[in-house]
Amino acid sequence: MAKRKLRRAPAAPKSVPPVLPALIGPRRAVPREIPRPPYALTGDPGRSRPHPVRSPEVIERMRAAGRAAAEILRYAGHHVEPGLTTDKLDAIVHEKTLSYGGYPSPLNYRGFPKSVCTSINEVICHGIPDSRPLANGDIVNVDVTIFLDGVHGDTSATFAVGEIDEYSTMLIRETRNSLYRAIDVVKPGVPINEIGRAIENHARKFKLGVVREFIGHGIGEEFHGVLQIPHYYDSRARTILEEGMTFTIEPMLTLGDPSLGVWDDDWTAVTLDGRRSAQFEHMLVVTADGCEVLTMCDDDAAMGHDASGAAVAQAGGADANP
Ligand code: MF3
Ligand code: CO
Ligand code: CO
Repeated sequence: MAKRKLRRAPAAPKSVPPVLPALIGPRRAVPREIPRPPYALTGDPGRSRPHPVRSPEVIERMRAAGRAAAEILRYAGHHVEPGLTTDKLDAIVHEKTLSYGGYPSPLNYRGFPKSVCTSINEVICHGIPDSRPLANGDIVNVDVTIFLDGVHGDTSATFAVGEIDEYSTMLIRETRNSLYRAIDVVKPGVPINEIGRAIENHARKFKLGVVREFIGHGIGEEFHGVLQIPHYYDSRARTILEEGMTFTIEPMLTLGDPSLGVWDDDWTAVTLDGRRSAQFEHMLVVTADGCEVLTMCDDDAAMGHDASGAAVAQAGGADANP
């Protein structure tokens, strides 16, 4: 038998102290004049429309929702600092979303109790904002979704809290880069599994794990549509991309084994080995010759990417993240 190269486990230690559940405040109110998605009262999103291609009129509305989501995310990110509780971050996102005339999509989606997801350190996704203050050295993903003019805009980013260690810096940088490698392959005629292949190939170069249980999704009038976008290579994901399809790509990469567990709150997903995880998410539409990222923000531009996801030539180059 040929000798296989052993894939050495990354040296990153487990994240200490572990993130623990804290107090969850009451549900925030939404003024009656703000239009709500169908699940706002019952928690039940109902069925998604089966057809993944959206009309130009819907895409135009998604452009506005996507832009709003990106602005809210950037606004939230600027508030991230040691001492801020994730509950306060929830208030910031909630109020900012209302100021656009939008509804914070997570609120009561399948019973989710808050207006944004905040996932710290070894929390992979769906962290519930609570009374825990952010600590220097933490990393936190903020996942913003707004329901505006009948459609959802969904985007997330992982932020450093104060000074973070080298592993966390690399994890954040390469998780973002894996998202851009994936966006680069999106165009009509390409099978969906090329997206996951690009992410997995990128992750492997940095010995990062790829979470398999949570995937990108179709989006539009519904929060989670029928399209499924795995972030790893799945030979069965053979659907061919078509112009007008709208979906998210939202890779979660880990410093260790990507196996996960879920807390008793039925939402908070954590790595079983306690090592850190990062995530970035964009919502996009497939165009005639590529794609348009609907949740682009100035910070992406500063990182050297334009709305097509392409690296823009500039001093330092696309991968020279600060
Ligand atoms: N925004 C998440 C996503 O990217 C979904 C959060 S669902 C919630 O798909 F209920 F937790 F808000
Ligand atoms: Co999201
Ligand atoms: Co999403």
